[in-house]
Amino acid sequence: MTADLVIVGSGFFGLTIAEQAATELGLKVVVIDRRHHIGGNAYSEKEEQTGIEVHRYGAHLFHTSNERVWEYVNRFTTFTNYVHKVYGVHKGEVYSLPINLATINQFFRANLTPGQARELIQEQAGELAGTDPQNLNDKGIQLIGRPLYEAFIKHYTGKQWQTDPKDLPAGIISRLPVRYNYDNRYFNDKYEGLPTNGYTAWIEKMAEHPNIDVRLNTDFFDESHEYSKNKVVGNIPVVYTGPVDRYFDYAEGDLSWRTIDFEEEVLDIEDFQGTSVVNYNDDDVPYTRVIEPRHFHPERDYQTEKTVIMREFSRFAEKGDEPYYPVNTSADRERLLKYRDLAAAEKDVLFGGRLGTYKYLDMHMAIGSALSMFDNKIRPHYESGAELE
Ligand code: FDA
Repeated sequence: MTADLVIVGSGFFGLTIAEQAATELGLKVVVIDRRHHIGGNAYSEKEEQTGIEVHRYGAHLFHTSNERVWEYVNRFTTFTNYVHKVYGVHKGEVYSLPINLATINQFFRANLTPGQARELIQEQAGELAGTDPQNLNDKGIQLIGRPLYEAFIKHYTGKQWQTDPKDLPAGIISRLPVRYNYDNRYFNDKYEGLPTNGYTAWIEKMAEHPNIDVRLNTDFFDESHEYSKNKVVGNIPVVYTGPVDRYFDYAEGDLSWRTIDFEEEVLDIEDFQGTSVVNYNDDDVPYTRVIEPRHFHPERDYQTEKTVIMREFSRFAEKGDEPYYPVNTSADRERLLKYRDLAAAEKDVLFGGRLGTYKYLDMHMAIGSALSMFDNKIRPHYESGAELE
């Protein structure tokens, strides 16, 4: 197949472009991915011993308020009515998160009304009122007061960053949500749910069009195949969703990322924690949270007396690790500006997605931004010869 468009990366960004280009414009699209599976970080598969669907790169919860994205994703899958809720363990007690009136009343052993709780938190946050916090620790205290900050944010954030919050920049957080009611839905979006038949079934459906040719185990920078960087760039338009610094051979330096190590275990019990996600907010537990994937699909009959759990350990990524969350230091931001200039000058190559733009994107954001790139750049290029830039 001679391709009209080459897409590097079969995550939601790349596949949205591929699907639109094939369906709307009839283009022949080649999608390459260096992994052995499609779907990028949203990929899920059945755990072998139990048949329970596990999200291989960490828990993926779909939610959006974007009507266009919701209509688009419903072309490929239906969604369950799963509503995400998170609990957190602090000093041997389980609390409901994000911090809400139940958390506050349990923590202070009280029966406060919404107004009384608001007053209390304002009073406690007053400790650093009028100051200009220079680190995350002071910022946290200023936002929600010391007691709640130290119980639920301080150590959890310290574990996420492997850094004492006193040594983290205040800018990492701009707000800490506190709800003065008993609503403990994790997301506020209009639509929420999990793909009924799993992420992989959804993702495969997006790649189903006969004009889409997906080639796995194929790295863009490996010269041994016909769609490598050197063979394609300048000859066929490219949408690149891999790491932007890698594309330019790290010419401006490495961008820094955090990664997660997952410790997976199959247990001989049907239910380990009674819910899908439990955070560990104290520093005496080394992991940040435990995921129990069985609970993502209470509507399924898994026919197993075992369960799977995944403990998550967060750390800075090194070369060769999976890049998950941009660290975004000031040095990163300077480098990113230089990479953006280089990317803008790269003829007939568009950079997109989480890795290509060095931005944390939720799934609905990756899909929404791919739809915009298709409308604003790819369609005009193929329909009326507009420059691809
Ligand atoms: P994605 O990373 O999925 O895909 C990029 C693809 O490019 C990969 O498959 C990679 O192998 C490929 N690639 C890279 N370099 C290449 C090369 N040189 N050659 C060939 N292929 C190459 N979102 C959400 O909405 N709800 C959630 O709960 C979560 N949870 C979550 C947890 C964790 C731990 C992470 C890291 C992320 C989430 N997300 C999320 C975000 C979600 O994963 C994200 O929105 C999508 O992965 C974005 O899709 P992309 O296509 O941009 O990247």
